[in-house]
Amino acid sequence: MDQIAPNKDIEQRPNSKKVFVKTYGCQMNVYDSQRMTDALSESGYESTDTVDDADLVLINTCHIREKAAEKVYSQLGRLQKMKKARAANGRELMVGVAGCVAQAEGAEIARRAPVVDVIIGPTTYHRLPEAIARARGGERVIETEYAVEDKFEYLPQINREKTLARGVSAFLTVQEGCDKFCTFCVVPYTRGSEVSRPVAQILTEAHRLVEAGVREITLLGQNVNAWHGEGPDGRSWSLGDLLYHLAEIPGIARLRYTTSHPRDMDETLINAHRDLRKLMPYLHLPVQAGSDRILKAMNRRHTAADYMALIDRIRNVRPDIALSGDFITGFPGETDEDFEATMRLVEEVRYAQAFSFKYSARPGTPGAELKDHVPEDVKAERLERLQALLFRQQTEFQQSLVGQTTDVLVEKPGRFADQVVGRSPWLLPVIIDAKDIKIGDIIQARISKTGTNSLHAEIA
Ligand code: SAH
Ligand code: SF4
Ligand code: F3S
Repeated sequence: MDQIAPNKDIEQRPNSKKVFVKTYGCQMNVYDSQRMTDALSESGYESTDTVDDADLVLINTCHIREKAAEKVYSQLGRLQKMKKARAANGRELMVGVAGCVAQAEGAEIARRAPVVDVIIGPTTYHRLPEAIARARGGERVIETEYAVEDKFEYLPQINREKTLARGVSAFLTVQEGCDKFCTFCVVPYTRGSEVSRPVAQILTEAHRLVEAGVREITLLGQNVNAWHGEGPDGRSWSLGDLLYHLAEIPGIARLRYTTSHPRDMDETLINAHRDLRKLMPYLHLPVQAGSDRILKAMNRRHTAADYMALIDRIRNVRPDIALSGDFITGFPGETDEDFEATMRLVEEVRYAQAFSFKYSARPGTPGAELKDHVPEDVKAERLERLQALLFRQQTEFQQSLVGQTTDVLVEKPGRFADQVVGRSPWLLPVIIDAKDIKIGDIIQARISKTGTNSLHAEIA
């Protein structure tokens, strides 16, 4: 893949084109959208927050649940009208669909939505500038073969101004794809099989981010803790080894990683939580369900007891770690008894934060073929009970922080004058009333009260 030469004059060019990117789905899509914007800026596209200003609208899509996927078509309907209205005024509008829906249903999008000029899968976005150029020449472009190795190698310029505009905390994809094949999930089909990014590329990107002023890096992967590679020392590295190495980079103040699978939490990674002050005490470790029967049907390949034992080991080395999880209610065959097992597991773990969903049957996954689908109202009722419990735990966790002094990474100005918003070690935003504080500083603050999904604090 040819690298497109960075063009430093783009910002000054009065007639450069504009791109509007709308992102759905997980953090990997957020990361991909940023890299697509970077790549496009090298070929003359400035980004805009207003659809009306855009010459190119790019939708970065998510296929995880039916609702997420259907949003794409309603968006495309609106864009179709807009394109028509513009054509009447002689103004162009290009439309691109990227991400997991593009990968899973590229041909269907092409058929259902004539407005779309470019369809590009999540592993091929490095080909986007070229695809746009081809589309402008009148071709309809569909790029959905897997090419994740090329994508990893392709590193658009990381521009200081743009990077800082996105914040002092940045994502860095180290792994993509999934070989786990949970029976409910589309990801193995949309992102392909597990690929780890080589250490040298990760380090290059990490150094560039730090030079651009980034203080906190979150390593990303669909199964980030399945990452492995060859270290500069010639040894085979797991994610834990990578974290120990990154923690040595002086400019990096904080490290995080997401999303992990329970089966890939190895000893080194657990010990990293004990040894690395820079590794934040927060872990998103989805379990999905608490019943062994359901876990088996989901092909999670661990039991509820395995998960609990793992949580114990992690808490042993890092007692203050905040745990987060994902849950699905109403997987096919889930009985009341199975669901109670999920409730018991949650009671036992005490989560600081969690995400929970009703099961959504996804075409092409083994789960969709199962019998005994749970009625929608039962799924909803279980979800409501589960969310009430999780919300209670979340509130308890947040209240337990009141009175504590902790470090806060200052991320942006607050809504009011003399106010800043930062991030606590547990990921929760912290609002601080204070003057003359620099973005990117790490300050000591005493938590005074909790808000809705945020904390308030005073300088300690
Ligand atoms: N790789 C991560 C999560 C990927 S998707 C992991 O292994 O945990 C994020 C979450 O979406 C999943 O953890 C799951 O809780 C939820 N999810 C995935 N497929 C789903 C489906 N078909 N219906 C409902 N929720 C689903
Ligand atoms: Fe989906 Fe399971 Fe892979 Fe996570 S581990 S991405 S839930 S198949
Ligand atoms: Fe959605 Fe694809 Fe992420 S399906 S959750 S955008 S990996």
